[in-house]
Amino acid sequence: MNLRDQRILITGANGFIGRRLAERLRAEEGAVVRGLVRDASRITHHVSEIAIGDVVDVDAVRRAVDGCAVVIHCAAMQSGRARLDDYRRVNVGGTLNLLGAAREANVARFIHLSTINAHGVPPPRDAHADSPLGWGASRGAINCVPTGDFYSASKAEGERAAWQFARANKIALTVIRPACTYGPRSNAWTLTPLRRVKCGRPVLIGGSDGICNAVYIDNLVDLILLALKNDAAIGQAFVGAEGRGVTWREFYGAYARMLGGRRLFGMPRVVALALTLPFEMLARVDGFPPRVARSSVEFYSHRVVFDIEKSKRLLGYAPRVSFEEGMRRTEEWLRAEGIIATG
Ligand SMILES: NC(=O)c1ccc[n+]([C@@H]2O[C@H](COP(=O)([O-])OP(=O)(O)OC[C@H]3O[C@@H](n4cnc5c(N)ncnc54)[C@H](OP(=O)(O)O)[C@@H]3O)[C@@H](O)[C@H]2O)c1
Repeated sequence: MNLRDQRILITGANGFIGRRLAERLRAEEGAVVRGLVRDASRITHHVSEIAIGDVVDVDAVRRAVDGCAVVIHCAAMQSGRARLDDYRRVNVGGTLNLLGAAREANVARFIHLSTINAHGVPPPRDAHADSPLGWGASRGAINCVPTGDFYSASKAEGERAAWQFARANKIALTVIRPACTYGPRSNAWTLTPLRRVKCGRPVLIGGSDGICNAVYIDNLVDLILLALKNDAAIGQAFVGAEGRGVTWREFYGAYARMLGGRRLFGMPRVVALALTLPFEMLARVDGFPPRVARSSVEFYSHRVVFDIEKSKRLLGYAPRVSFEEGMRRTEEWLRAEGIIATG
């Protein structure tokens, strides 16, 4: 699909991935980008048009999608002290609202951003784009309450619902499941890790050889653009990773180096798991995610490198920015913004 002058709706256009995608779609592809945002006061010049609204608001979503050839659905509830149903309202209900509006507007392509965590945490040993999704019958919505991963469980449910709706309504759906996406402006995988290292918080679990599956923002955006431009991506899911075995020690170590060689702290896996128990008991009672969760321990200690062979084969994808270069660009941004001291 040629994207020049095509009107593309990006939900979550004020977010980390949505914003970079909007910048590149306009600058490199000549697309007309409409951003669906909740707070118009924060938007800058990275979109061509603004639609205001929440993804749970059917009418606002309809207005946003109207006249667009493509929808890229980035908006999601990712964190926060909220109950499972609140996550589901946005990550399942919001996704279905977008797909419903896309059907009415006859959009040519729909790209949905899921997550590698949809495969379950920990992921299957040989995880790849066609591995089954997790959080299903045996690890369903109810079971995720004590483990604390409302985000991942609701994203898996949202992706399943998206496939079902798209098949029933013949929508040209492509799913991208990003891994830990870092780079300039990332809150989850740049600003937060930097803060954690700076404060001396424990960031490594067990033998510290857990695998991080980091992906640099522009490598992920490359993959999304390739998927959008190539009809072979219709009806397919892709893992948004780099296929490299970067460990958490290397990942956090890069931030520690930027901070002048801070020491990294960790804790044994068994201690981390024991710490989760009282929080999980409380979660069973109050229904909110535990502050220390078993799913986080699994996330930081598994050793699975997500396979990206399908993206290479079907889309000709190759991560252009190495881990070292990605961290160099990230550091450059952090210094330019004055977040870490220059010199
Ligand atoms: N970054 C990663 O490492 C990563 C990894 C795996 C998957 N993903 C997926 O990639 C997508 C984009 O992630 P991101 O890192 O760009 O996240 P982000 O920076 O948190 O951006 C998410 C955006 O969603 C918007 N949003 C949240 N709830 C909304 C609602 N109810 N209605 C309308 N907009 C809403 C937020 O709007 P406000 O600005 O108004 O808050 C925000 O702009 C998400 O679907 C996420 O699950 C990201």
